[in-house]
Amino acid sequence: MDPFESFKVAQKQGWVHFTPFEAITTPCAARLVKRAGVRAGQRVLDVACGTGVVSVTAARVGARVTGLDLTPELLERARENARIAGVDVDWHEGDVEKLPFGDAAFDVVLSEFGHIFAPRPEVALGEMLRVLKPGGTIAFSTWPPELFVGRMFTLTASYMPPPPRGVTPRPEWGDPNIVRQRLGSAVRDLLFDRATMLVPALSPSHHRRASEKSAGSMVRLIAELEGSDPAKLEKFRREYDALASEYFEDNLLRQDYLITRATKI
Ligand SMILES: C[S@@+](CC[C@H](N)C(=O)[O-])C[C@H]1O[C@@H](n2cnc3c(N)ncnc32)[C@H](O)[C@@H]1O
Repeated sequence: MDPFESFKVAQKQGWVHFTPFEAITTPCAARLVKRAGVRAGQRVLDVACGTGVVSVTAARVGARVTGLDLTPELLERARENARIAGVDVDWHEGDVEKLPFGDAAFDVVLSEFGHIFAPRPEVALGEMLRVLKPGGTIAFSTWPPELFVGRMFTLTASYMPPPPRGVTPRPEWGDPNIVRQRLGSAVRDLLFDRATMLVPALSPSHHRRASEKSAGSMVRLIAELEGSDPAKLEKFRREYDALASEYFEDNLLRQDYLITRATKI
């Protein structure tokens, strides 16, 4: 199989159990939707929508929303979330690197901690911009390399086999200079903002244990090491807890992130 396709198959397997984390991405969804200035009647695409927290939030503002994700199990939950909220969203199973939509089909394209998991930034971003109309808004939330989640991605990656050549480290998406370069001359009015996600946990180890069950890269790492190298796994867990301790206060893990917003030219 094409190495990027195998990478995506592994991604899909890793995200199956993400649903419990929707509670912590939900407040961030409201922030992204507000920052993007989503209005009633706009056609909005939520890329890598997971359980649909951004999609449902945008639909509740009155937007006509399409949500797309690689992982069917999460889309099932997304459908349930839309039903509970009493909104209609057009859900699609699919890949951000190959969006099944026409050029300029949307007024707004959003991604919350989502498109960064596609292997090739230029392909994912090219698709997100292709389906966005000129004058439309692109906005996404990403993890800076120097803060908790970015550092955790780097730590996790250091315990995993190297990804296929051409897969870029996802914390790069949290560096404004790299984001500016990637968006290049395709956009104007580029704006960066910072926000904080506070994750309740009884201890750093409680947070790690929850991540081991739900967060894509951690799920895959545990599956990799549990049988093959328990000593290495223990070392990873110690390093993870030490890192999380640096950001842990008042039973909250502080996860600061970057929001990018721009207008397509
Ligand atoms: C951290 S979750 C974020 C989910 C949701 N946006 C939220 O904020 O709760 C990452 C999501 O990216 C999705 N994903 C990973 N690679 C993808 C790809 N190539 N195309 C579409 N979705 C992808 C996963 O299935 C997962 O739902």
